[in-house]
Amino acid sequence: MCGIVGYIGKKQAAPILLGGLKKLEYRGYDSAGIAVREEDGVRVVKAQGRLSNLIEKTEGGAVFTGTAGIGHTRWATHGVPSECNAHPHCSFDGEVTVVHNGILENYRELKEKLLRGGYVFRSETDTEVIVALIDYYYKKYKGGPLDAIARFMQRARGAYAIAVLFRDRKEDIYVARKDSPMIVGVGEGEMFVASDVPAILNHTRKVYYLDNLEMARLCAEGAEFYNIDRERVEKTPVTVDMDPSAAEKDGWEHFMIKEIHEQPRAVADTLRRYVRDGRVDFSEAGVGEEMLKPSRVVIVGCGSAYHVGAVLQYVIEGLARIPVRVELASEFRYRNFIFEENTLVLAISQSGETADTLAAVREAKAHGAKTLAVVNVQGSSIAREADNTVFTVAGAEIAVATTKAYSAQLIVGYLLALEFARLGGRLGGEEYARLLDGLASIPEKMQSVLSHKEELQKFAAEHMNLHDVFMIGRGIDYAVCMEGALKLKEVSYVHTEAYAAGELKHGTISLIEEGTLVVGVLSQSAVCEKTLGNLEEVRSRGANVVCLVREGCAVGAPAGTVWTVPPIEEYFAASLLVLPLQLLSYYVSVQLGHDVDKPRNLAKSVTVE
Ligand code: AGP
Repeated sequence: MCGIVGYIGKKQAAPILLGGLKKLEYRGYDSAGIAVREEDGVRVVKAQGRLSNLIEKTEGGAVFTGTAGIGHTRWATHGVPSECNAHPHCSFDGEVTVVHNGILENYRELKEKLLRGGYVFRSETDTEVIVALIDYYYKKYKGGPLDAIARFMQRARGAYAIAVLFRDRKEDIYVARKDSPMIVGVGEGEMFVASDVPAILNHTRKVYYLDNLEMARLCAEGAEFYNIDRERVEKTPVTVDMDPSAAEKDGWEHFMIKEIHEQPRAVADTLRRYVRDGRVDFSEAGVGEEMLKPSRVVIVGCGSAYHVGAVLQYVIEGLARIPVRVELASEFRYRNFIFEENTLVLAISQSGETADTLAAVREAKAHGAKTLAVVNVQGSSIAREADNTVFTVAGAEIAVATTKAYSAQLIVGYLLALEFARLGGRLGGEEYARLLDGLASIPEKMQSVLSHKEELQKFAAEHMNLHDVFMIGRGIDYAVCMEGALKLKEVSYVHTEAYAAGELKHGTISLIEEGTLVVGVLSQSAVCEKTLGNLEEVRSRGANVVCLVREGCAVGAPAGTVWTVPPIEEYFAASLLVLPLQLLSYYVSVQLGHDVDKPRNLAKSVTVE
């Protein structure tokens, strides 16, 4: 996902812009650039590849002289990663300069219109069409920057967060957004723009969140906000409580391993936020009883967030006996879903900006369903559009591969399941208290699992040339396999499939060869024996079987490697089982020399379709 920064004030802009882009590196990118308003116009410098290339090319920003500017890290959507396609893009006469996060869906028709109007284009990007269109309206109607931007917004289809410099407006920066995040930071005699809080946390905690179809004019003294009709909008700034150290490695080699180890605290902090005096308490999130008595639940999410839903379907159905569907948000938004009475749509998202999940929330609201979001980022779009939001207390998650947010989302889901069951008359005092005690034991048990990380590190060193790995299980164990497989794939690029253990023999077992690694996840008593049988089936065909076992579950596990997690309530076993799979993924990736925090082709949050 692209990253945007902007600065206007008394200090030299370039070093601040570069520092902000550095804090946004985690989002994934392939090129970067900054534009600074200098005495004789707007100067742009761009570089392909890592931000360090741009820092070197601009001598840390020293080549610029100016106190207003915008910067960008690009995650390519239209046009290959290249210096030419990198942002900022400027109009042919240098009048308008833009950085953009999102996708302009109707850029082809707009480009045709502009080409007919004599515009020329140097890049393959949709962003250059945005620049030209704003420039066209600016020159044609002479209504000023906000008029030109508003006209662009009326014609644009798709998602965008843009920051704009106008050469003849030395004292201003302009921003606008639709479906891509944009915040405005408030300093003393200086103002900031960013896609995400970490970029400006070193400068200010006081921010405005731009709402959809809003624009703003920033000068050193402050900001004016407008809607698409150019009417002033009064906004209230908020103070973000993000811990700046979350955006630092603090001595860890990578963010991913740091965040893996932050999971016990993320779980403990999330429990502390929503469990008081032996009771679950979502009142802080404004979640009333009517939302906790659904007739059915639909869980929507993407990637790991979807995998959290895959676990929760078993936990909610098991404890509360409420029907649960888990839907990939990208499918849900187009499937013409049949909404029944009193349906609760639970939208899970770490970033709160995933386009498909945001669209799923809108689809649900459009059909009258109640929407409850489980999100990690304050002020994010999903958090602002869902009827209610229960925030996970995991802190900023920087590594592209989620770990601590996944674990915190599970905790919120378990707590929701307890409340659904209690309010549905399915759970009485003693059992409720026992399950709450089980939750309270998770942080310490997670710590115990993490203390055996060398076992996984050693295994990874011995098996770094993995290919075509399978992870198999049943029920919650199968849901854990989904997350384990994604982790190994996304950071080590090793093809890995999660498979329902009972389904393997219906075709896919033909892929099992001598030495194929198969990880069997075994924590659910009712089905352990069955999965053990499936593991024998693959072992007899040459597979190298590893068992990941909840202590006390799989008596008679096949000979070979066994990773054990402490005893735990079966409904909550995923919270422990996922840890060895996270560690395995991390160590294999590091062994292979990959950029484990910023894997190829990936972005931390996918704000485009
Ligand atoms: C998980 O490690 C991946 N980074 C990815 O699958 C992620 O879970 C997915 O894109 C959803 O992101 P979200 O939780 O921010 O909505």
